Amino acid sequence: MIQKQKGCNDIYGREAKIWKYVESIIDATMEKYNYNYIRTPLFEASELFHRGIGESTDIVTKETYDFVDRGGREITLRPEGTAGVVRSYIENKMYGDPNQPVKVYYNGTMYRYERPQSGRDRELTQFGMEVLGSDDPLSDAEVISLAVNIYKILGLKDIKVNINSLGDKESRDNYRKVLIDYFKPHMKDLCEDCNERIDKNPLRILDCKVDADKDIMKNAPKTIDYLNEESKERFEKVKEYLDILKVSYEVNPNIVRGLDYYNHTVFEIEAKVDGFGSNNVLGGGGRYNGLVNELDGPETPCIGFACGIGRLVKALELEEVKLPIIDSVDLFLMYVNEDEKKYATYLSQELRMAGFIVDTEYVGRGLKAQFKQADRLKAKFTIVLNSEDLNNNEVKIKNQKTGEEEIISLDAIIYYLDEKLNTSDEFDYEYDECDCDYDHKDCNCEHCSCEEKK
Ligand code: HAM
Repeated sequence: MIQKQKGCNDIYGREAKIWKYVESIIDATMEKYNYNYIRTPLFEASELFHRGIGESTDIVTKETYDFVDRGGREITLRPEGTAGVVRSYIENKMYGDPNQPVKVYYNGTMYRYERPQSGRDRELTQFGMEVLGSDDPLSDAEVISLAVNIYKILGLKDIKVNINSLGDKESRDNYRKVLIDYFKPHMKDLCEDCNERIDKNPLRILDCKVDADKDIMKNAPKTIDYLNEESKERFEKVKEYLDILKVSYEVNPNIVRGLDYYNHTVFEIEAKVDGFGSNNVLGGGGRYNGLVNELDGPETPCIGFACGIGRLVKALELEEVKLPIIDSVDLFLMYVNEDEKKYATYLSQELRMAGFIVDTEYVGRGLKAQFKQADRLKAKFTIVLNSEDLNNNEVKIKNQKTGEEEIISLDAIIYYLDEKLNTSDEFDYEYDECDCDYDHKDCNCEHCSCEEKK
C-alpha cells in the first residue's frame, strides 16, 4: 500500500467540514476589512526565497523543497506566502495603483522540510494577509486585531497576543551588536543551534526553546531597550491603537521571529489551551519595510501575518468550541423499483436546485437498509417513493425527529420543506449563533468570547 509522505495530512470527513467552515469565516472577515484575495504560484524561483526570507534562516538553510525543473531552472516550493505576494506586487506594478495601501489575503499550502511532529508538518496550509504601502502604525494594530478577531469569531477563548518591536534598521543593527557581545562569552552554555546562530542570526537565539529557562536567556538585553526615539514612539502608537481596538496583548521582548525580513512591530498569537504541546503558536507576523526594495521594487513599507490552519483547527478541537457544522441532510429519498428510482433521480435534482441538501440510494440497499442509511446521514425528512403515490401526484413525507408522517402533493414539496426547515426553529443548530459581530458587545451566546463576559 502506498502511504502519504511524512508530515502530510489527509483531511476528510468532519475535520474537512471544520476546515471549510474556518475558511468561510476567514473569507467573510477579510471581506469586512476590505482585503482582496490573492493566489500566487505554489512554486517560485529559488532565489526569491533565498533573498526574501534570508540565507541564514532555518527555513532557507534546512527546510525548503528545492528542485531543478526540466528546463534547468532552480525552483522552490513556497515555504510561506509573503515572498510570493511581494514578488507579485512588484511584477504587477501594484505600487502604481492609486488605491493604496494594497491589502491582500491568501490561503494555501506551503512546504517546509521539517522534522515532523505534532503541529509541525511538511505540507501545511496557511492563511495570511499583507498590507503593502502603509507605514501607519494603525496598519500594524489593525493586522493584529484582524487576526485576533478571526480567532474570536470562530469561538477561541484561550489565546495570548505577544508583541515586540525590533525597531528600524539602525536600532536593529545596534541591538544585534549588543546581543553578540552579550552571548559570545557564554557560548559553551548554549545549545548547538544557538552556537550556529550567533554569527548568522543572533536574534534567533532569543527564541530558542532548548535554552529558554536558562538565566543567560532571561537576563539577555531586550530589543525594546535599544530602540531609537523614532522607533520607540512608533511602538507606543501601535499599542495605543491596539488599546482602542480592545486587543489584549503582552509586550514580550523574546519575540524576534524566524525570518530575516522583519523590523519594527513583530507579534505572535499563542494558543494557551492545555494539550497543545510546544508548537502552540497559532500565527505570527510583523512589519517588513525593506523587503519590497530588497526584491528590486520601490521602497515600500509593509506589514503582514500568517496562521497555520491545522494548528487553528487543533485549538478549536482542544477548546471544544461548538461550530455550526452541517453534518445532516434535509431529505433522504428512498425507492424500491426502477420507475421509483427514476423519479428519485428527477426529484433529487429539482430539490437540490431549490436549495435543499438531498441524498438518495446508490448501492442497491433494500428498504430496511435505506432507513438505516437515512439515520446514518441524520436525515431530517425521508420520503419512500412508491408508484401508487406517484400516480396520485403525492408522496408521504416523514419527519425523522418526531416520526410524524404527512401526505403532501408533489407540487408542494418545495414549499413544505422550506416552511419546515427555514421558517420554524424545529431544526435549528443546538448552538447559539453569535450575532454580536466583531465587538462582541451585548452578546449572550456561550460561543462568544467577549471581554465583557469574562
Ligand atoms: P511563520 O511564523 O513562519 O511566518 O509561520 C506562520 C504560522 O504558520 C505559524 O505560526 C504556524 O501556525 C504555521 N506554521 C509554520 N510552519 C508550520 C509547520 N511546519 N507546520 C504547521 N504549521 C506551521 C510566516 O510564514 C510569515 N510569512 C508570516 C508573515 C506574513 N509575516 C509577514 N507577513
